[in-house]
Amino acid sequence: MDVDVQATRNIIEMITGGWRAQALYTAVKLELPSHIEAGHTTSSALAESTGAAEKGIHRLMRLLVAIGVFTGTESTGYRNTDVSAALLDESLRDLCVLYGEEFYSAWGHAHHAISTTSSGFEAAYGRPLYTYLGLDADFARRFQHTMNAGSMFFPQVPEIFDFTGGKTVVDVGGGGGLLLATILNAVPDAKGTLFDREHMMPEAREFLAATCGLDRVQLAAGDMTRSVPAGGDVYLLCRVLAGSDDDTVVTIFGNCRRAMADSSSRLLVLDRFVRDEDSTVLPALWDLHLLMTTGGGHRTLEGITALLERAGLVIERSAELPMETTALVAAAR
Ligand SMILES: C[S@@+](CC[C@H](N)C(=O)[O-])C[C@H]1O[C@@H](n2cnc3c(N)ncnc32)[C@H](O)[C@@H]1O
Repeated sequence: MDVDVQATRNIIEMITGGWRAQALYTAVKLELPSHIEAGHTTSSALAESTGAAEKGIHRLMRLLVAIGVFTGTESTGYRNTDVSAALLDESLRDLCVLYGEEFYSAWGHAHHAISTTSSGFEAAYGRPLYTYLGLDADFARRFQHTMNAGSMFFPQVPEIFDFTGGKTVVDVGGGGGLLLATILNAVPDAKGTLFDREHMMPEAREFLAATCGLDRVQLAAGDMTRSVPAGGDVYLLCRVLAGSDDDTVVTIFGNCRRAMADSSSRLLVLDRFVRDEDSTVLPALWDLHLLMTTGGGHRTLEGITALLERAGLVIERSAELPMETTALVAAAR
């Protein structure tokens, strides 16, 4: 049989993706972009500033230059590219470490996770992701920074919904508070409640105090599957539903609907949705990533519409946001 060289090459490119990810992760873990920025531009200088073996650094840099993360040579000195310069940002660094450590271990159970549609993370760590987050403060901090690194669409949220008029915004599963702070900073007469699990409260309080002040903010800890704070004009569910099964999502929607102040209140669902035909790569990848991490996944637009209807909510309109995110505005029927 003739060997299809191009097909073989394509396979090699794909199956070495994990190696590239680990190489990039190692560069971030060793903080190579910062060391290069500080003028340590040879393998020996990088070895001295990181404590890693010079030969190891040299071999790592050979690959990372070849794939465009860094540029330069041993004799001219290594320099940052746009890619490695972006890794000077703490949120992106935390994303790389999380993806290279805990989430890499979760993906190590891909065969099991896909065969059983159960969480790869739980197979690796013996506990669901959100339970584990409450037990490991450093992991929780990196997780929240990772969520922040994927939050490029937040500044557009006040542009696609009118939060003015003294509205109270309840961010359900609001995490560290970045979305709420973005809205309150854009809309001076809005007030907000950050609702999340107990373990998120200290970090969220500190973040909100530093970014928008606590005058217009309340923090509430609890379990959204039981209840959510009552009396809000706008309820936000941003990237929180993927880990829950359909019945639980209907319960969460129902809790938001019952908590709404009045008939003018709205629920905003901000999430990625998959489509089965003509899917692009990233939503399909994130969907599997959610299976690995939470045991859940992204829903189709039809799927989420049906769940909203089961909870007595109808979609009034939708808006597209950057990063392939969609905003759904729902009202009580
Ligand atoms: C993927 S993060 C999204 C955070 C934030 N909304 C964002 O988009 O950056 C999911 C958040 O939901 C919170 N969460 C998960 N289950 C919850 C529950 N049952 N009750 C309250 N919060 C929950 C988690 O603690 C976490 O902060």
